[in-house]
Amino acid sequence: MPRYIINIGSLYGILPAGVERLRGKAMSAVETIGDAWLAIDDAGTISGYGAMAELDRTVLAAPGVEVDDAQGGSVLPAFCDSHTHIIYAGSREQEFEDKIRGLSYAEIAKRGGGILNSVDRLRMADEDTLYAGAMERAREVMLKGTGALEIKSGYGLSTADELKMLRVARRIAADSPLEVKTTFLGAHAVPREYIGRQEEYVELICREMLPAVAAEGLADYVDVFCDEGFFTVGDTDKILNAAARYGLRPKIHANELACSGGVQVGVAHEALSVDHLERMGAAEIAAMRGGRTVATMLPGASFFLGMPYAPAREAIDAGLTVALASDYNPGSSPSGDMRFVMALGCIRMHITPEESLNAVTINGAAAMDLSGRIGSITVGKAASLIVTKAVPGLAFVPYAYNTPIFTHIYLKGHKLCCNI
Ligand code: NIG
Ligand code: FE
Repeated sequence: MPRYIINIGSLYGILPAGVERLRGKAMSAVETIGDAWLAIDDAGTISGYGAMAELDRTVLAAPGVEVDDAQGGSVLPAFCDSHTHIIYAGSREQEFEDKIRGLSYAEIAKRGGGILNSVDRLRMADEDTLYAGAMERAREVMLKGTGALEIKSGYGLSTADELKMLRVARRIAADSPLEVKTTFLGAHAVPREYIGRQEEYVELICREMLPAVAAEGLADYVDVFCDEGFFTVGDTDKILNAAARYGLRPKIHANELACSGGVQVGVAHEALSVDHLERMGAAEIAAMRGGRTVATMLPGASFFLGMPYAPAREAIDAGLTVALASDYNPGSSPSGDMRFVMALGCIRMHITPEESLNAVTINGAAAMDLSGRIGSITVGKAASLIVTKAVPGLAFVPYAYNTPIFTHIYLKGHKLCCNI
């Protein structure tokens, strides 16, 4: 049924078709129409928008047309969360308490906790149990305004368990109105049974896991945790070369714990994105300047782990394409709230509300190679939208970061009610 949303106080995030990303200074603009309408067609795509004063109101009375009155509320593109680990079993509040007592993320990992803790639990869980838990998180983030989601494996670390995770991710894609991209992260950590034999584990990834993942068509992208204490630049290079044979583009974890060379190896492999970047200096920024790799920053992990924040301000000033994502996972960021991510971008990374919105919409879409389908108000893109109560302006969204102002979410034209 065609649908019109009318009386939109401000329609934010309009972009012409063909704009895939916003770099540097361009991130500071959010094109807006005040007192607007937007039309959604039967296929769940945006079919038009404009100012109320110019709307031919006879279309609203046509048979079968549904009309939603936004009553002066705003409309924004749905969030594009380009980095998550939402498939996991159990939670890790024990480590949360260890952190409160002063242990670092790296120390917890060294003691066999951290990622390996989630691996133990995931291996014991069957696919349906994992699906139920991950779907609950997917529903949670949809109601918080997320319309596109990247989902990683990486808590299986055996061929069978990695495949199990990726099958769950594909099921979420099939059963929800989200746009979903899946990423194979076999190189998230060295599993217990390979400790001391890291090279052999890298071989297993290249010789067995990647071919199996590719044979079932389960992954869109490949990831490696290229960081101190995890995988080296050499390991990363090997895995990315092997993945390229199956057409899997990299999106890698880099420079969370140290200046690991992860950024440079990611750029050399034309990664779609390099993610985390809490340790990033002039050399890393220079390596990314002018390239197509998106700098994806995860302020929720910095917040939760008490780490430094990635230098978003400097990266934008240097002309990079910056995206912000949630990193939703049980160890370093147990939240998929992209509005809070926007707020952390503003408060802790000194980026403006406009830059922050672009970082969680069009640039997040670019980091998933989805900007042709989602991430802005553009005719022909998915009608994946957030509708708010009447708010004073865009800055109110990250400013009042915990006030329930989202009234409805549309995902590919399906309307969800936020019950506020
Ligand atoms: O992105 N840093 C590596 N991986 C995840 C954390 C995973 C975990 O602790 O379970 C991250 O922060
Ligand atoms: Fe992550």
